[in-house]
Amino acid sequence: MTEPLPIVLDVDTGVDDACALLLAALHPDVDLRAVTCVGGNAGVDDVVRNTLKVLDVVGRPDVPVARGAGRPLIEPARDARHVHGEDGMADLGWPSSERHPDPRHAVELLRGLLSRAATGEPADRITLVPLAPLTNIALLLRTYPEAAAGLREIVFMGGGTEIGNATASAEFNVWHDPEAAAIVLESAAELDIPVVMYGLDVFYDVRVSREQSAELTAVGGRGPAELAGRLVDFQSRRLGQPDATIGDAGAVCAVIDRAGLTTVRLPVRVELAGTFSRGRTIVDRRDWSGDLAHDPHGIAPTSVEVAMSVDAGRYAELWLRTVNGGTR
Ligand code: RIB
Ligand code: CA
Repeated sequence: MTEPLPIVLDVDTGVDDACALLLAALHPDVDLRAVTCVGGNAGVDDVVRNTLKVLDVVGRPDVPVARGAGRPLIEPARDARHVHGEDGMADLGWPSSERHPDPRHAVELLRGLLSRAATGEPADRITLVPLAPLTNIALLLRTYPEAAAGLREIVFMGGGTEIGNATASAEFNVWHDPEAAAIVLESAAELDIPVVMYGLDVFYDVRVSREQSAELTAVGGRGPAELAGRLVDFQSRRLGQPDATIGDAGAVCAVIDRAGLTTVRLPVRVELAGTFSRGRTIVDRRDWSGDLAHDPHGIAPTSVEVAMSVDAGRYAELWLRTVNGGTR
């Protein structure tokens, strides 16, 4: 039997992030060491509240939760309550946690965990899973670049090769703090951190039907299954669709079951200017073995494993099984 993989989630909980937290907290193949919070879908204080609430529901008071950046590096915060509800997590009216967040800033908590991991065995290295604007991670890698030695890889939800959601060009997490995303990609090249981009090319493919969410909700008892069912139901009703994506949980599926994801290693940059394209991930799909010397930009310094397709049924099943109490 292999040891569970140590992971840390960086979240802006968020309906999608709540789906991801349920999976990460419950699946035995991963060891959720901490959750760090950043402003994004909701203000950072609501993100902390929502995150603690989910961890209460799954009975994981052992997982430290730290508050991080409340706003992007340059621009003001722009939340997505129109997508996630007034409280940022489907306005369920469930009780708030009585637990307090860790007193450390998210960056300090990450530094501590990663420094310890760096001095341990290779198996102790941490997989960092940012599911939110990359502000905390940019601050971490700029302030404490040596912390990268404790990382196994970064698997982030963000970007895309073809489509946007916050704008026609850009995906929300990268659009919300493009400078942070650019810093993280640049740091990955400098510090030799492997990166997987779970972007919009696959994000919407992993779906759960209203019938399946109703079965989860019917389990009741305000436990993980009911919460999972209510989250999916909220999104499918909001969009008037017969099903809804499990959202950021797909990126956690990619950590647990990489074989379900098809990736291609490609150079990626973030557009920091642009009238209509700020925050877009520029994924270079050209063949650089040919003559591209005419390109004044040259090849992007960071190559990323970009998710191009997903075995959607396999990931949906993994999530459903886990949140409903069975993991094998
Ligand atoms: O763009 C997808 C992102 O938006 C996810 O991280 C999720 O939080 C959603 O709100
Ligand atoms: Ca998110």
